[in-house]
Amino acid sequence: MTAIDLTAARGKAAELLARRKRGFSLEAPFYLDDALFELDMAAIFARHWVHVGTAAEIPDHGSVMTVDIGRYSLIIARGRDMRIRAFHNVCRHRGSRILTSRTGKARSIVCRYHNWSYDLEGSLLDAEHIAAGIDRGCLGLKPVHLRDVSGLLFVCLAEEPPEDFERAPLRQAPSMMTDEEPAPPPKKDVPLFPAQVAQTKKGAILVDNKGMTLYTFDRDTSGSQSTCDAKCAERWTPLAAPADAQAKGDFTVVTRSDGSKMWAYRYRPLYTSQYDKAPGEANGFDGANLWHIARPAF
Ligand code: FES
Repeated sequence: MTAIDLTAARGKAAELLARRKRGFSLEAPFYLDDALFELDMAAIFARHWVHVGTAAEIPDHGSVMTVDIGRYSLIIARGRDMRIRAFHNVCRHRGSRILTSRTGKARSIVCRYHNWSYDLEGSLLDAEHIAAGIDRGCLGLKPVHLRDVSGLLFVCLAEEPPEDFERAPLRQAPSMMTDEEPAPPPKKDVPLFPAQVAQTKKGAILVDNKGMTLYTFDRDTSGSQSTCDAKCAERWTPLAAPADAQAKGDFTVVTRSDGSKMWAYRYRPLYTSQYDKAPGEANGFDGANLWHIARPAF
């Protein structure tokens, strides 16, 4: 492919825009010209945040999907920690495209050419024919900036994303989590949601309305059920929801095996731990690493 001269393309775009008549659409080259397409990709799509999908499309750990932005192909994967990450869909061995399906489920991301494999967090796992002494830590999938704004996924291909987006989630989240716009200010004595965000030494976490740390369970993978019953529920208390509770924003309602209701955040049922005795404690640790502190999506 012949290299496109972006400086010349910029000049051409400026010239076309200068003679554009108000009330008329852009001239044909904006839709047909390869150089203007490349300019659009470089100036807008490779530098700014682009909406690529929703968190609900990859609900479980191991859920993956691919998206294309111009010539770029990206993998978006939910890791074991339930975090969603984006990577270039390019193998670090010889640069081939790794995944071709739009969506899927995987324990690892495997390139079909020579079977190099990566975990869902992008680290290189296995690599055939790799030379001795090579630092595998440098050969993970190339990450791409991703932001999850109340379930809407945005990526930015630039190395340094524009800062304006950093303020956007805080502006958008309240209105996206209620039916009204703009959202009314919360009343002090009436909790707006079943859980709140608290800033702690461990970062931003979700707490119940008494300030107790909330947790998620790795075995709750369906998005609509809790697998913590009987003895498990004696140590991990489901975050109770009223019988007539309705989903709101990121919070959905799960019906437990005994018919009672509990809250889930982004399809992960929420629990408090019997090991925590006061707000601010986070002692809910398990040796199998199946329980995790619930964290807000932004
Ligand atoms: S190109 Fe991917 S394993 Fe070789």
